[in-house]
Amino acid sequence: MTVDAPPSWATTIPHEPGVAKPDPILVVDGVNRRFGGLLAVDVGHLEVQRGAITALIGPNGAGKTTLFNLLTGFDNPDSGSWRFAERDLSGVPAHRVAHHGMVRTFQLTKSLALLTVMENMKLGATRQRGERFWGALLRPLWRGQEKEIEERADALLERFKLSHVRDEFAGALSGGQRKLLEMARALMVQPELVMLDEPMAGVNPALKQSLLSHVKQLRTEGMTVLFVEHDMDVVYDISDWVVVLAQGRVIAEGPPAAIGANPKVIDAYLGTHFAEGGGEALGELGPDERLEVDQVGLGEPLTPGGAADA
Ligand SMILES: Nc1ncnc2c1ncn2[C@@H]1O[C@H](COP(=O)(O)OP(=O)(O)O)[C@@H](O)[C@H]1O
Ligand SMILES: [Mg+2]
Repeated sequence: MTVDAPPSWATTIPHEPGVAKPDPILVVDGVNRRFGGLLAVDVGHLEVQRGAITALIGPNGAGKTTLFNLLTGFDNPDSGSWRFAERDLSGVPAHRVAHHGMVRTFQLTKSLALLTVMENMKLGATRQRGERFWGALLRPLWRGQEKEIEERADALLERFKLSHVRDEFAGALSGGQRKLLEMARALMVQPELVMLDEPMAGVNPALKQSLLSHVKQLRTEGMTVLFVEHDMDVVYDISDWVVVLAQGRVIAEGPPAAIGANPKVIDAYLGTHFAEGGGEALGELGPDERLEVDQVGLGEPLTPGGAADA
């Protein structure tokens, strides 16, 4: 495991929950989400540094996926607001959030099994473009867009080594290939911020290395990454900054080395995490199972109050 030196901002700002970052792309204020009697998310203030890789860690049920759902418009908070790239995105629905440059993947892959890999890729982009260009008057322009979209998709498939399965049904891919497809598809909107919910969970070690280098590459290209991860080796390896969530709250923040040594974190997370016998891929199948096709913009976002609860 090679650990890159932390960026200078990470060593100069205080290592405390809610600390201001020098150049935040995302600023969250007072976001609460209640499910019945459970306060699943209770984030007072959180800033995500632009151009950095930030890991969001915490025990199962800490509220990580729920926070992702809220920030990306798949769920609505009971209170709170957030700004992404200087724009208030609170209350903006999922497909428009992606359009503004903030895109997420799911803990469980959501590729559409009965569509081909290429069709999945196109869906990652067409909904946004379609809305802008759907008018019959602009039909020729739309066709031009489609060609450009297909070229972009092919370039991404090449980069993620999926070109050879371009015309296969997504359902025929291995679990690892679906993870790659999901990341590739997220990039179709040319996002500024990519939010990855357990991108490495359940993939074999070789593919994990490949996913890791893809995530680092996003940062090299100037994108910001916020990712949920249980495997602390992965967190140490690729993150510039770590945010620890427990019972919905940010209980610690800092560069990876400082986080690993923080007694609060060891208590709240690492202790229980390792006591449970887990090293990696401990992510439970969370409520985001219900979101199904929403990621590609075909469905309606979850209604507040968790109406879809079984
Ligand atoms: N739609 C929902 N309805 C009821 N409870 C939910 C719902 N979504 C999440 N929860 C609960 O909120 C808490 C946080 O869940 P989640 O965000 O999935 O945690 P994490 O991703 O950190 O494991 C858990 O206790 C979970 O059971
Ligand atoms: Mg989760």
